[in-house]
Amino acid sequence: MATSKREAELKQRIDPGKVPRHIAIIMDGNGRWAVEKGLPRQEGHRQGVETVRDTVRCANDLGIGILTLFAFSTENWQRPAWEVNYLMSLPEKYFQSELPELIRNNVRVRLIGDKARLPGKVRKAVEDGSEATKNNTGMILNFALNYGGRSEILRAVNDLLSDAAAGNVKGRIDENKFSAYLYTAGLPDPDLLIRTGAEKRISNFLLWQLAYAELWFSNVYWPDFSRLHLIEAVHDYQMRKRRFGKL
Ligand code: FPP
Repeated sequence: MATSKREAELKQRIDPGKVPRHIAIIMDGNGRWAVEKGLPRQEGHRQGVETVRDTVRCANDLGIGILTLFAFSTENWQRPAWEVNYLMSLPEKYFQSELPELIRNNVRVRLIGDKARLPGKVRKAVEDGSEATKNNTGMILNFALNYGGRSEILRAVNDLLSDAAAGNVKGRIDENKFSAYLYTAGLPDPDLLIRTGAEKRISNFLLWQLAYAELWFSNVYWPDFSRLHLIEAVHDYQMRKRRFGKL
């Protein structure tokens, strides 16, 4: 069946009242996509940004409330400097071209991760994007940059200890109180985690928040991930029975 026909058919079968509130994506496979085509790895990342653009549009069309994209992990600093530098050039380029459309589409941009080690131009690009969209009320687009799940949890614990030492923490800590110390404070946990690139692991992404997420893995490399794949993932999600440990 032609892609556009299958896309239209599947889209019709999606219940707009039951789309995931929050989708998180591990965008994997840029490098392999490029190398298999005899191209430099940067070309895979460049194409990956095009996929980000399409995915944001499609998620917004589907009525997804929050889209969280894993764009750079705390472990990615261990890549060669030329690749790190290239990855660090992408947020600026993305916002330069996409910000007007994000504003028009009522999308609100946020950054999750440790800002301190990000180059100034990256921080500025995302902070300017966040500032320019802060009053938007539509889909929240979270970019996870210099993000690591374990370091997020440790940071939360240390912030909590400081608050407790200052006498600002009352009573015992429950899940709600703890969640308020995470980068995702105030946001619902992801309902659906998508990982492309044929690997089946979490890679230190949203370790606390993914506790009950439905998982959807695809062999497709991120640059080849299309609207149809996102619609397939959402459709598959809607077929699942979420029990949260109950019967
Ligand atoms: C993993 O693929 C991907 C990354 C480490 C970077 C992901 C970044 C983007 C898709 C672009 C981000 C866009 C913006 C706007 C910030 P890989 O390089 O590990 O692929 P491989 O496993 O095939 O080597």
